[in-house]
Amino acid sequence: MKAISYGAYGSAEVLEYGELPDPKVGPDSVLVKVRAAAVNPVDWKAREGHLQGGLDAVFPVIPGWDVSGVVVQPGVAVDEFTVGDEVIGYVREDFLSRGTFAEYVAAPVRTLARKPLRLSFEEAAGLPLAGLTAYQVLHRTLRIRDGETVLVHAAAGGVGSLAVQLARHAGCRVVGTASERNHEHVRSLGGEPVEYGEGLAERLRELVPDGFDAAFDTVGGEALRVSADTLAPDGRLASIADREVFSYGGRYAFVRPDAADLARLAELAEQGIVSVHVDRVFPLARAADAYRLNEIGRTRGKIVVTVDWDA
Ligand SMILES: NC(=O)c1ccc[n+]([C@@H]2O[C@H](COP(=O)([O-])OP(=O)(O)OC[C@H]3O[C@@H](n4cnc5c(N)ncnc54)[C@H](OP(=O)(O)O)[C@@H]3O)[C@@H](O)[C@H]2O)c1
Repeated sequence: MKAISYGAYGSAEVLEYGELPDPKVGPDSVLVKVRAAAVNPVDWKAREGHLQGGLDAVFPVIPGWDVSGVVVQPGVAVDEFTVGDEVIGYVREDFLSRGTFAEYVAAPVRTLARKPLRLSFEEAAGLPLAGLTAYQVLHRTLRIRDGETVLVHAAAGGVGSLAVQLARHAGCRVVGTASERNHEHVRSLGGEPVEYGEGLAERLRELVPDGFDAAFDTVGGEALRVSADTLAPDGRLASIADREVFSYGGRYAFVRPDAADLARLAELAEQGIVSVHVDRVFPLARAADAYRLNEIGRTRGKIVVTVDWDA
């Protein structure tokens, strides 16, 4: 099969497009014919070697954990899916090895859910990792409740844009940081946009004088400090980007594959409650360019690569 892979840690230059053996399908997995795979910042952080010790590489590594596609072969123990089912997945295992930037991926069923019919394959590929992160942080780590006021950083990004929609759906008032060019987009998701940078804490205090009930830091550094400074006295703080959160009494979260959570997200997408904005689409062969673009840090929604099966 055709796939993107790398044989050593490094910049986007280490990515190669070429032939690799088709994946083998274990009893609890299905072989997915990939239609689209989404870019996540963790892919390039892992490629640069920053996850070593917690998530080690078995080279050659195929990057990517997000996927949408069609089941072509269920493993012998699988009765959840059959040939022809359209699925989405956050296909993370305990090592970096067989990712989703390929024509086929063997995906454990614990990482999968049915693809929402309402979403295109491109949109659906952007849902799993970012959506699960937003869902698990809001509902498990922060335990948001109806009527609360929630701060979401990088509200136009992959995780932030889903967090805004999920928190709104939970009945919260949501304030989201974004640059001016993304303010209309954040409003369209149901959030109140606020420009980040100098004076952010003051702008947030003006909008929410009593402080936030919950703050979701997706940026780290200054964004984390401002989050801690603008919390209500009993407010809760979570970060997915900066372990310094512990020093503010908050919690750090790392997203886990969870079939039930993913099915819930798919249901919300099917009902039109959450949507995925696709910023740019690249062919699989140009995955390195897709990663370079994400590394700039200005993605609105998701960047996606697609496999063209008609070519
Ligand atoms: N721990 C975990 O489980 C976990 C899971 C998922 C993601 N993450 C991490 O969380 C971070 C966000 O992930 P993502 O997928 O949402 O990234 P992303 O989609 O690439 O984020 C891009 C967005 O960040 C915004 N942005 C950049 N700097 C900002 C700042 N200082 N304040 C507010 N917004 C800013 C940009 O908005 P503008 O263009 O408007 O500036 C852009 O919309 C990454 O570091 C990622 O590795 C961790």
